[in-house]
Amino acid sequence: MSYAKEISRRRTFAIISHPDAGKTTLTEKFLLFGGAIQTAGAVKSNKIKKHATSDFMEIERQRGISVATSVMTFEYKNFLINLLDTPGHKDFAEDTYRTLTAVDSVVLVVDSVNGVEEQTRRLMEVCRMRNTPVIVFINKMDRDGKNRFDLLEEIEKELKIQLHPMTWPINSGKDFKGVYNLDAKNLLFFTANTKASDEDSLVIEDLQDSILNEKIGEKDADTLREDVGLIDGVYGKLEADDYLSGKVAPVFFGSAINNFGVKELLDTFIKIAPEPLSRETNKRIVEADEPKLCGFVFKIHANLDPRHRDRIAFMRVCSGRFERNKYYHHVRLDKEFRFSNPYSFMARSKDIIEDAYPGDVIGLFDTGNFKIGDTLTEGEDFYFTGIPSFSPEIFKELVNKDPMKTKQLEKGVTQLTDEGVAQLFTQFGGNKKIIGCVGELQFEVIQYRLLHEYGAACEFRVLPFYKACWLTSKDEKKLEEFLRFKQQNSAEDKDGNPVYLAQSEWFLNTEITNNTDIEFHFTSEIHK
Ligand code: G4P
Repeated sequence: MSYAKEISRRRTFAIISHPDAGKTTLTEKFLLFGGAIQTAGAVKSNKIKKHATSDFMEIERQRGISVATSVMTFEYKNFLINLLDTPGHKDFAEDTYRTLTAVDSVVLVVDSVNGVEEQTRRLMEVCRMRNTPVIVFINKMDRDGKNRFDLLEEIEKELKIQLHPMTWPINSGKDFKGVYNLDAKNLLFFTANTKASDEDSLVIEDLQDSILNEKIGEKDADTLREDVGLIDGVYGKLEADDYLSGKVAPVFFGSAINNFGVKELLDTFIKIAPEPLSRETNKRIVEADEPKLCGFVFKIHANLDPRHRDRIAFMRVCSGRFERNKYYHHVRLDKEFRFSNPYSFMARSKDIIEDAYPGDVIGLFDTGNFKIGDTLTEGEDFYFTGIPSFSPEIFKELVNKDPMKTKQLEKGVTQLTDEGVAQLFTQFGGNKKIIGCVGELQFEVIQYRLLHEYGAACEFRVLPFYKACWLTSKDEKKLEEFLRFKQQNSAEDKDGNPVYLAQSEWFLNTEITNNTDIEFHFTSEIHK
């Protein structure tokens, strides 16, 4: 197959949702369609149950599963689909945000009963920052959900995105009869717990046709006619460019657990979702079809075996063909590396691969040379932009409990923060090490891993900060002065960038107002 064809048949995306909306279930149905798994139940949910937050075995189990299901590759109708998994637990949200930098589009699952939830909102914010094309799947239509028009309005308002219905439901809950495909103009009948097949659908070109009354009853037929009339009037035709630029999100209704509406979603997905896109670097835009290889590391995973400190770095190939055993340029270290065992991931198993193409994600065996954001090229020096760190929400001082193990502790903290488990700040003036995380669970993971993998005991002391802001200024002097004056609240991140640690929103706003020469940023691009 030609290089151009290999690229154009690839689709790299992620399914995102608030926990419990049905991401795992939908993933599984996709894999079933792609023939990557044969039976339902093969994909294990990778969420950590609430009661298990202090159960380290559970954390370990989670890590194992999430390596195996980090990237799931399957073929569907000659398309090669890379589905990147994102952790369900909100404490690992930052991992999810970074994964979103490696995809070209997303499918957002919304629970029809709960509507827009906290994680849905945050994930969409990240998609909006990058203008990522989004398809919405409204799940659990077999349950009594919100009124469909109200739900669309809620999603549009809360997620600040225009929607475009592709299918339209006939009732919900126990009265759910199916969906009308507005594009194909066919009616898909819902039967619980069965695999919807073509026999369950009926083409109805003209909704006035009396067959509609026969099939779903007069009342529901009239409602559907009315609804469709309204939708046609309001939404018109979906413009591909509006979807591709992230302005408009096509919407599907269905029930993942019943495998209903999923095929419609997948068929439209392969039709409209973008093929591997060009990407911005700090020097120039890289086109996917350029002949030379480049890619970036967006995730690093420690291996399960604590006796070996080897890790897997996940790299998204952005251009060129990746070849096993060929030397590539590690931009940050200015060193050449070759990889004899690059992995690709098929649901639940790892395979060594010979080559990979733009859009693919490969696992590179790493002994500590990679950091998130690192770039491999064939010699050129640049970094991909738009791989941000977000402000942590919980800050704690790292306290060494065993002075004999200071070296191990430092090494461990450096490596774990390279992996992106947490962010490390060092207070100006003092040498206080501050760990910032999105969730409490990460502190437990760090403490546990430092002890078990590095033999270093530590504890954490709560600090009264609520947000970290990265600071820049055209006036170097002003910035230095500010940092000196606010020593208690100033630190530098791992790359030496100055950061202001705010105690509260009030303090932050006051500083922003009083220091107009200084810019306060809520995200830091790892490489500017
Ligand atoms: P997540 O990955 O987004 O966290 O969600 P997951 O797929 O695990 O689904 C969460 C729960 O919702 C599961 O039930 C799942 O069976 C259920 N679910 C998924 N899709 C549908 C649907 O279309 N209709 C209905 N009624 N339920 C659906 P659970 O009881 O938490 O887990 P399980 O014991 O069924 O695995």
